[in-house]
Amino acid sequence: MFDFARQGDADKATAWADLVGAADGVTSGERDAIANMANVAALVWDLIPGLNWAGFYRMVDGELVLGPFQGRAACIRIKLGAGVCGTAAASATTQLVEDVNAFPGHIACDAASASELVVPIVVDGVVIGVLDLDSPTPARFDAEDAAGAERLCALLAERLAG
Ligand code: SME
Repeated sequence: MFDFARQGDADKATAWADLVGAADGVTSGERDAIANMANVAALVWDLIPGLNWAGFYRMVDGELVLGPFQGRAACIRIKLGAGVCGTAAASATTQLVEDVNAFPGHIACDAASASELVVPIVVDGVVIGVLDLDSPTPARFDAEDAAGAERLCALLAERLAG
């Protein structure tokens, strides 16, 4: 078992640096996408405070399909371009949403979610999935979170690259 406890009130930069370092360790030498996503979802849950959902959707046959996550049971399939996740996947760009109710087409898997951060995972120029973080706190995520999550997804992409 890996034990990466959150260090008290670690500031945001430290929390993301710890997370990327821990993810680097647990995914090292492993190329299986599900195994790596499962461990990274668990690490995000342990190290990033204020979340009610953290996990992955994988691109399967042109749509997003629920992958490893922590939190409540969620919608299984999301069409490309639909909701925050589908928008991130279709545009291959990070979506930082301060108020999910103001996002056109937002898919409410958990009514508790108030803000959301979705980062695409791009391997060899192709979006193979997204990392989705939800928070019950409005405007929970900022540019620093987006940069940290992008570093995490870049690491994952590196592990999964052919
Ligand atoms: N809210 C997301 C759907 C996934 S759940 O939050 C886990 C969206 O609009 O794409």
